Amino acid sequence: SAAEKGGYASFMLKEIAEQPKAVADTLLGRIDGSGSLMLDEVRIPANVLREVDKVVIVACGTAFHAGLIAKYAIEHWTRVPCEVELASEFRYRDPILDQQTLVVAISQSGETMDTLMAVRHAREQGAKVLAICNTNGSTIPRESDAVLYTHAGPEVAVASTKAFLTQLVACYLVALYLGQVRGTKYADEIRAVVRDLASVSGAVERVLETMEPVRQLARSLAGKDTVLFLGRHVGHPVALEGALKLKELAYMHAEGFAAGELKHGPIALIEDDLPVVVVVPSPRGRSVLHDKIVSNIQEIRARGARTIVVAEEGDDAVVPYADHLIRVPVTPTLLQPLVATVPLQVFACELATARGNEVDQPRNLAKSVTVE
Ligand code: G6P
Repeated sequence: SAAEKGGYASFMLKEIAEQPKAVADTLLGRIDGSGSLMLDEVRIPANVLREVDKVVIVACGTAFHAGLIAKYAIEHWTRVPCEVELASEFRYRDPILDQQTLVVAISQSGETMDTLMAVRHAREQGAKVLAICNTNGSTIPRESDAVLYTHAGPEVAVASTKAFLTQLVACYLVALYLGQVRGTKYADEIRAVVRDLASVSGAVERVLETMEPVRQLARSLAGKDTVLFLGRHVGHPVALEGALKLKELAYMHAEGFAAGELKHGPIALIEDDLPVVVVVPSPRGRSVLHDKIVSNIQEIRARGARTIVVAEEGDDAVVPYADHLIRVPVTPTLLQPLVATVPLQVFACELATARGNEVDQPRNLAKSVTVE
């Protein structure tokens, strides 16, 4: 009903708008006054976490994209190797798991059958399983060794938005916590990022306040057949997520690519006026990556692409090559997906609506897939 949607035209719009609060709720009570993480819920003892020699993330759909981003954070802050695998592929390839493996299962619903089967398989092999989940008391957390709830509140729209952002926050917390428990050379950086996490809710709020040009752009592209998305580093999974949203909601051909792969194939797809969304990493930090992606934008634009550039505030290098520029607040490199994903959600939602689609209930999709 209209009342349930809180005045919004769809649950999806409501849930997009709830993201600043959802992100803050995921952090609530998990950081103490001195900036240390308190994750008592992770009932896996510190000595066991110190022995972990491999992290394996399993998930489906949008949650899988959260996992792809988590890999960058986990490996950087903990120096423990991390694999990310589609839950539906996991147990069928006889994965290598033992008591020193930490499996992280990410699921909004906690009921996705593919993910549940991966959890069962992992535990049978002796691995410890930590669930990241949004639904209290659901099956996956009940069958796991521990759970970190995302506290995003109920998500009704089939296409995941606030659950995704809060899964990211939970993944960062797990990565930082593992780093904290194990003690790495990144101790100072970990403390700094924990502080930065506290300002992320406000950053997401600022993104939401500047979305009118994105909505206009989305409406103007409603007649297109294809949209491509490019990114690298943590921007690559963001590109995959932007493309998935467009498929799910607008029923358009959309693909996400690692920008570094452009010359190995995807550049052949570029033609006149093809919209290409490019997620640009911060010019600070990993500036080499930034410069490479600016070259990619020039390359595709020279071949006719209409460039839609998502870049940090103050990043002037992209301005000459951006047909459309979407600004996001400055964040630490690894946290950028929290702000860069939001315009892509708004873009897909608006474009789908302009095409006459029902965004809360896309055709052929279910919110929770409880069969394999
Ligand atoms: C379905 C939904 C997706 C979701 C995926 C995983 O395919 O349509 O939006 O990302 O399941 O769901 P989960 O509840 O496990 O996060």
